[in-house]
Amino acid sequence: MKPNTHDELITGSLLRQSVMERLDIPTEQPHIELDDELLELIFDLYDDDRDFPYQKIRKFSIGEILTYLQATHRYYLTKKLPEIEQSLLHIFSRYGKTHELLAELCLFFNDYKTDLIEHVKMEEREFFPYIKRLVKAAQSELTTDEITELLSTASIAQFTDHHDSIEDELKEVSAIIRRYSEYEATPLPYRIFLNQVELFELELRKHAIIEDHVLVPMAMELEAKLRGE
Ligand SMILES: [Fe+2]
Ligand SMILES: [Fe+2]
Repeated sequence: MKPNTHDELITGSLLRQSVMERLDIPTEQPHIELDDELLELIFDLYDDDRDFPYQKIRKFSIGEILTYLQATHRYYLTKKLPEIEQSLLHIFSRYGKTHELLAELCLFFNDYKTDLIEHVKMEEREFFPYIKRLVKAAQSELTTDEITELLSTASIAQFTDHHDSIEDELKEVSAIIRRYSEYEATPLPYRIFLNQVELFELELRKHAIIEDHVLVPMAMELEAKLRGE
């Protein structure tokens, strides 16, 4: 089904709203400030990722990109996942006994949640700290020995090899609901849930674009310089 302009407008503004929301999630920092121009570029990417001006976003620092990505991670873990889980629970209490599709959905979503948390944790514990060390090295805050040690223990390539498209798995939720609605009417709460999940999938896709096409090339460039390539 091709989304019409109305859907696109709603989705666009919801995504925009979500970009702002994540910057308000309480953190150690009182509030997260992002450059207005960077935010505008991110909004553009959320609206439409075709012909995205990657060169423009690359003028911002790795630190700024990481701030945005980390705020997004917090938003997923503390807001989005609990929200989706909440609506799944709500559906369960209402249709748990009568709709067997639910068992499948709940199981799937539980597995998915574990995978997503794992994905985010790996980035927060290994991938991002490695990049932050690269930035420090480039700012001459590390000794030559520390840099050699850093470059011998990890590499961007090692991370990208294992950076899977976590958003693709979410498609299975829509597939489960769609399969089911072929032979039975889908109650409204399912359709609302489906909408929520599809929006989240879209959102994860934009996040991955920033990781793969903005952060990774920037970090790789830095790494190559430090390796003297
Ligand atoms: Fe991420
Ligand atoms: Fe990722």
